[in-house]
Amino acid sequence: MRSIQKINKKVTPKSNKSKLEEGVRYIVLKPAGYPLRSELNEYPEISEYKVFEFYAREQWNGLVAKSGDYLFDRRMFPDFAFEIVNVVPEGSFISHSTAFFIENMECDDLIPKIISDVDIKDVIGQDRAKRKCKLIMKYLDDPEGFGKWAPKNILFYGPSGTGKTMLAKALANDAQVPILPMKATQIIGEFVGDGARQIHQLYERAEDYAPCIIFIDELDAIGLDRRFQELRGDVIEIVNALLTEMDGIDEHKGVCTIAATNMVESIDAAVRSRFEEEIEFVKPDKKERLMILNSNISSFPIEIDGNFDIETLVEKTEGLSGRDLVEKILKNALHTAILEDSKVMNRHFEEACKKITSLNTPKNSDEGMYS
Ligand SMILES: Nc1ncnc2c1ncn2[C@@H]1O[C@H](COP(=O)(O)OP(=O)(O)OP(=O)(O)O)[C@@H](O)[C@H]1O
Ligand SMILES: [Mg+2]
Repeated sequence: MRSIQKINKKVTPKSNKSKLEEGVRYIVLKPAGYPLRSELNEYPEISEYKVFEFYAREQWNGLVAKSGDYLFDRRMFPDFAFEIVNVVPEGSFISHSTAFFIENMECDDLIPKIISDVDIKDVIGQDRAKRKCKLIMKYLDDPEGFGKWAPKNILFYGPSGTGKTMLAKALANDAQVPILPMKATQIIGEFVGDGARQIHQLYERAEDYAPCIIFIDELDAIGLDRRFQELRGDVIEIVNALLTEMDGIDEHKGVCTIAATNMVESIDAAVRSRFEEEIEFVKPDKKERLMILNSNISSFPIEIDGNFDIETLVEKTEGLSGRDLVEKILKNALHTAILEDSKVMNRHFEEACKKITSLNTPKNSDEGMYS
């Protein structure tokens, strides 16, 4: 069964093609019961997802779908309604290739998840990666036009918390395409052959949902240098499956693979060579730290003290990643202020900085960050 965890904001189609010509690529439904009848029967649990999709395509084929409208079951459960939560492209017609999703259903299958409301412009710095994303967006908008020159396999690498996952999600959001995430650590299955099967399945699914993005996180877990693979049993099989799929350019039209790792040096040379571009993510410089801090502080749910000195905070957070700034400094300071029923003050940030230095240095230092 498939589910969709979080639904994107409404979209406007980016393609120049007429909506009617193109048809709905995918649609997200939410069961809404029987709004026109008094019975309160629930729709039966959908256990055979493919059968439901077939049934849905058959009965709603040709209907123009818009977010907020309802689709009524006309056959087995007459008048049961599904609210259209999201449809891409908006206002196009349902066809025999439309992919259907039911909101918030448990899943045991690989599914596209549209999981971000972040835009590429929200990612601070990482300009080379953002330029590449602009190109990928052009490709996803017109996969045919690129032919063999398609951007296919891109590797994001660099320290933890520098925006690799954030940018991949933002790309999917900006391009309004599904993103199929896979954590490499999760596909090393219990049984030999399990992981390889999952890789093939992932690419098969991607073809169903193309144009789309495959995001392989923690690539080092499977793309590990062959010298270490012997320790890991079925990893060789997984690597081979991945290599086959990454080579399958013609078969995967409209599918772009982005992989991410913190350990680029330990990635197997054969896997590494499949990436047309390796893009390094770096920790934010002074200007970028200021931007990350400012943009996150603006969404604080409580007031910030008028004497707050952001420049000092920028100086004192040198060497921290974007994630450290958000999760360790800002969140910590905010939470302490909330507990004290106070505005967020300089001292709250100071305490948060102290905590992080004591985490990062073996010996606890008594020196205040602001002293
Ligand atoms: N360049 C950035 N611009 C804005 N915010 C950032 C940036 N980098 C990190 N952040 C903040 O840190 C959070 C975590 O970043 P993200 O998960 O993308 O890091 P990552 O590079 O994927 O780390 P890991 O290697 O551990 O997976 C983001 O959700 C965001 O709030
Ligand atoms: Mg990540």
